[in-house]
Amino acid sequence: MATGRIFSGVQPTGNLHLGNYLGAIRNFVALQHDYECIYCVVDMHAITVWQDPAELKTATREVAAAYLAAGIEPKTSIIFNQSQVSAHAELAWIFNCVARMGWLNRMTQFKEKAGKHRENASVGLFVYPNLMAADILAYKATHVPVGDDQRQHLELCRDIAIKFNFDYKTECFPVTEPLIMGAATRVMSLRDGTSKMSKSDPSDNSRINITDDADTIAKKIRRAKTDPHPLPESVEGLAERPEAHNLMGIYAALSDQTREDVVSAFAGAQFSAFKQQLADLAVEKLAPIAAEMRRLMDAPDHVDAVLADGADRAAALAAPILAEVKDIVGF
Ligand code: ADP
Ligand code: NA
Repeated sequence: MATGRIFSGVQPTGNLHLGNYLGAIRNFVALQHDYECIYCVVDMHAITVWQDPAELKTATREVAAAYLAAGIEPKTSIIFNQSQVSAHAELAWIFNCVARMGWLNRMTQFKEKAGKHRENASVGLFVYPNLMAADILAYKATHVPVGDDQRQHLELCRDIAIKFNFDYKTECFPVTEPLIMGAATRVMSLRDGTSKMSKSDPSDNSRINITDDADTIAKKIRRAKTDPHPLPESVEGLAERPEAHNLMGIYAALSDQTREDVVSAFAGAQFSAFKQQLADLAVEKLAPIAAEMRRLMDAPDHVDAVLADGADRAAALAAPILAEVKDIVGF
């Protein structure tokens, strides 16, 4: 029985990785029978930084293929790409006029992505969180499963809903809850354990991509940075050990256990023995998804049909909500 409506998305920016799987896609699959779920490929977010048009089209299909391969059922859930439903852009404009400059100035993701070249960043990158709020609220979604890195953007979505409701004296929008689930809500880079594993870091060749072959996954895990000590006897022992914390969290999430379970299973073990088991587990979980993605990408007609059907269904859900909002605003 559906207990609410879920919206979430992944950017088609290439190199879907273990963090996207554990922080997002895996949870999308788990939630689809308890909620009405709308899963988007957020291509409009992708172009906030330059994307080659042909690569963007391929990457959009690839994210949809990953959704399907991971187990999202396109009859039960809606799978579509953002640019095909104009309500997202229309509502984003309204939210550009609700959100305050000061709110967006505080967004850490913009600061990280714009870096030192702030004056040269696209305006879209700056207002990205307003579009994300529109993605969610165009469907009055009640819950949004995301990785921990999206916490601040979800907070902004809530602020926009509250301000819109207050300014227009309405109860139109829900104050949406983030769902930050599992033992690996922020998968860190295997290079250092202290920066987020991310699609958009071209210099990070330690990133585990969903489509990596078994040997590559095993090699990346073997090479993951560690400290010289045996694994701890208790979770408290992970406190000052970011690499162990990260790798054991990944193991826990992949095996549906808690971090406590994993720590007690490997208490006092050497990293080398643990890494071997982690590699086997990662291959066991990722290889079938990668194989199914390849199968789907070889003949993308099915993926294209799923996206087209999803866009129709999403548009039908968003249309009355957008009409309601336009009326409230005075359009
Ligand atoms: P990226 O940050 O890799 O470009 P997206 O912005 O497309 O990926 O994020 C898609 C989803 O994956 C979001 O819910 C995000 O929170 C989640 N996610 C991204 N990176 C990680 C990570 N390292 N650990 C956990 N979840 C992550
Ligand atoms: Na992200």
